[in-house]
Amino acid sequence: MLIDKLTALITESLTKLQYPTDNINVIESNRKDLCDYQYDGAFRLAKTLHTSPLQIGENIIANLPENNLLSKCECLAPGFINFTLSNEAINTEIRYMCDTPKYGLQLTEPKTMVIDYGGPNIAKPLHVGHLRSAIVGESIKRILKYYNNKVISDVHFGDIGLQIGQVIYGLKQENISPQDINLSILERIYPTISGICKEDENIKEQCASITKALQDGNEEYRTYWTKICEVSSNDIKNLYKFIDVDFDYWYGESDAYKYIPQLTAYLEKQNLLKLSEGALIIDANLTPETNLPPLLYQKSNQAYLYGTTDLATIYQRMQDFHPDNIIYLTDSRQSLHFEQVFNVCQKSGLTPHTKLEHLTFGTVNGSDGKPYKTRSGQAPKLTDLFNEVKETFKNIKETNQELSPNDIDIISNAIIKFADLQNNREKDYIFDIAKFSEVIGKTGPYILYTYLRFNKILQENALKPSKLTDNIYNEVDRNLRLHIIKLANYLNNAYTYRSPSYIANYLYDLCVLLNTFYQTNHINNLEDLNNKEDWLYILKLSNNIIKDMLDLLVIKIPSKM
Ligand code: ARG
Repeated sequence: MLIDKLTALITESLTKLQYPTDNINVIESNRKDLCDYQYDGAFRLAKTLHTSPLQIGENIIANLPENNLLSKCECLAPGFINFTLSNEAINTEIRYMCDTPKYGLQLTEPKTMVIDYGGPNIAKPLHVGHLRSAIVGESIKRILKYYNNKVISDVHFGDIGLQIGQVIYGLKQENISPQDINLSILERIYPTISGICKEDENIKEQCASITKALQDGNEEYRTYWTKICEVSSNDIKNLYKFIDVDFDYWYGESDAYKYIPQLTAYLEKQNLLKLSEGALIIDANLTPETNLPPLLYQKSNQAYLYGTTDLATIYQRMQDFHPDNIIYLTDSRQSLHFEQVFNVCQKSGLTPHTKLEHLTFGTVNGSDGKPYKTRSGQAPKLTDLFNEVKETFKNIKETNQELSPNDIDIISNAIIKFADLQNNREKDYIFDIAKFSEVIGKTGPYILYTYLRFNKILQENALKPSKLTDNIYNEVDRNLRLHIIKLANYLNNAYTYRSPSYIANYLYDLCVLLNTFYQTNHINNLEDLNNKEDWLYILKLSNNIIKDMLDLLVIKIPSKM
């Protein structure tokens, strides 16, 4: 990576000068008119060395080793060091990216990582809120894998919570027997009964005791439950398939129950379970000052809770996978829950060498800034949402209607995913289907259009590029190449911060630069064949990058657009 090469140059100069060499931080220039990269370390060194930053900067430059990396290097008052890369350096980097797997990305020691995302609740229809955990999670999973980690994914269905008791209650009220349960029944029953429960304490209690009896193994309820899970999870799996989201394990909270006895014994041995008004609780504080509420382990009616199943699931994952990391994706409302669970893990020594990470994401809002709703005031079901996106896209122009249903599916996925993933995952964003579907703008269709445009150009051109000279022909050309070689920075950020938005933003900028490049540089009319081959080489590399980065963003490429 170029930043590493620049850092090495500076280190050599600092060593010669006998200056400290720690924390050398070369950054991308924020004044592209002046230079490509900059180093502001002279200011920090000035403090320890009691010399002016300008003097230090000049010393550093004077002692840089011979190199062919830079075409210009200067120190500007009061002490900024500016680097301009030579054409040779840029092109060496590009050739290296082309010839090395994963564009020369440096990989660290592979780890075993469990990623828990999606987390839909059985018997409740998936709505727009469920999209983020699934899409952001799937993208992060692919990024983790890109770095050669061994990644194990688990959907962690909410399959035994209160909603199940409510649905069973509703089914029995209507005399619907287990074998007759289907999706439309479930979609109708759950909202009805959950509405009633908000008003009627008595019915709510009844539903809770059904849930409890189910957890205790009541035969009749189990028959209902099995069928409910089957119908609902099949539906969810189909939807996930439609959005290209897949898991190694489709476990649910209920699968953790068999580990509870072992977990309880383990926690008892650590003396962590405390009796409080008939319930079992665990102090979740690592130090008394933090004042976290206790984790509720078992209610006074013996029922287990969300914290219990999460702890038991960690117990199972430690046994089965010995992971280095366990990563969760949920919205930020669950932050306290995970803080409690993680603290209990630490206190009990359940995960001594495992890093537990809770990644949160913001809400999907409507134009009013409140969680996105349909005109009827409900959170739209995912299937309806996709249908709306498809219709919007088809109505943008007539030729869109001639695309195959499969291409329309792919494009509607791209519309939703690119709109979501370009935002830093913690940010709320406004869901604006019309804007997301445009071909011009920071949208999925724009990226796909760019890819297909250059793919066609590359295919139709008889010249198949295989080498790159050290020339750069003009400014737009240089800007494009400079951006290409920054790929690893963006990928590393996406990986480190677990945020696909870095990749989405890199991709968008790449597409803008490519289109500008093509507008200025008329490749097809070129008579200079070296120039032509160089440019085709750059276009081909760019398009390969687009394809691979789209895959990390869970976006497929349509056959045409
Ligand atoms: N089912 C949960 C919900 O809808 C999300 C599950 C997240 N994963 C976990 N291990 N707790 O809120």
